[in-house]
Amino acid sequence: MKAGIYFVCLCVLSNIIVVSAILDVIVGAVAYITDRLFQKDDLLEPFDYERLKTDLKDSLYGQHIASEVVLKAVSGFMTDKHPSKPLVLSFHGSTGVGKNHVSNIIARNIFTKGENSEHVHVFISEHHFPLKEQVETYKFQLKQWIRGNVSSFPRSMFIFDVMDKMNPGLIDAIKPFLDHYSHVDGVSYREAIFIFLSNAGESVIEKVVLDSWRDGEKREQLQMNSRDMETKIFKDVFNANSSGFWHSTLIDAHLIDHFIPFLPLEYRHVRQCVLAEMAALNITANDGFVDRVAQNLPYFPPEEKILSVKGCKTVKQKLLVHI
Ligand SMILES: Nc1ncnc2c1ncn2[C@@H]1O[C@H](COP(=O)(O)OP(=O)(O)OP(=O)(O)O)[C@@H](O)[C@H]1O
Ligand SMILES: [Mg+2]
Repeated sequence: MKAGIYFVCLCVLSNIIVVSAILDVIVGAVAYITDRLFQKDDLLEPFDYERLKTDLKDSLYGQHIASEVVLKAVSGFMTDKHPSKPLVLSFHGSTGVGKNHVSNIIARNIFTKGENSEHVHVFISEHHFPLKEQVETYKFQLKQWIRGNVSSFPRSMFIFDVMDKMNPGLIDAIKPFLDHYSHVDGVSYREAIFIFLSNAGESVIEKVVLDSWRDGEKREQLQMNSRDMETKIFKDVFNANSSGFWHSTLIDAHLIDHFIPFLPLEYRHVRQCVLAEMAALNITANDGFVDRVAQNLPYFPPEEKILSVKGCKTVKQKLLVHI
């Protein structure tokens, strides 16, 4: 009788083992297939100059300098079969003027999955590298991360946000990847893209825009080197103690291809942002409504009130409370 019970138990147990082994195999196979499909989707877009141009024209407001430089720099790099170094861009400007927005535009013109591609890596200084005393560990991890990703996918994109708060030592650590070396420890970084975002230089840019406005010039006449803007940004970033670029060898070694100014936005650009958000949310309304939302944001300087303090940053929130 006892032997019979043992036998039944053994049969049940062996059945469970067999079933769970089969389940394991099925789960593994499903994971493998989804992974392959997922990776298959996460491809490079065939680079199309006209598409990037139209995208910048349609979805970026009030940034004619950034638009032109980004278009030239990105298309030149993407169509160069043998780049001598990775593309390194540094975006500067006040809050809500489109720095992250442009990184996303670049990403969606390079990767099928755009900013959601697993080949687009975003580092936010205060979030990923918060502790000063851990800088050596961060350096090691960051180098390993970049190396690992570029070796498996050379056209990887790395975005460093809030660069002005980043430990300078950490930035210097990635210097070899940005240089003209054909290989660093057996890996070539020449197809990779590095973008640094920061508010550093914002006061220089604001002053140039205000001076030019007060002199009666058209905003669109401003160029990268108007009123020495690029040099002033460069000096401001280099000399500011709070800046992550401070005394950084990235600047010493001229590894940044372009310092790109993002201008503070005017009322008319904020209006465009309101209209874009309304379209995205499928809201239709009259001009009066658009003006009410745009007027609800603060503008400076106090006398003229021509530039938006927060750019387009809180447009969506303002819009939602006005519906
Ligand atoms: N120039 C612009 N053209 C079109 N939309 C814009 C522009 N600037 C900002 N926006 C809109 O406002 C949102 C916030 O802008 P974004 O995150 O790019 O600002 P930022 O310059 O990175 O600011 P911060 O310095 O605070 O990080 C964007 O997602 C976009 O919808
Ligand atoms: Mg930002």
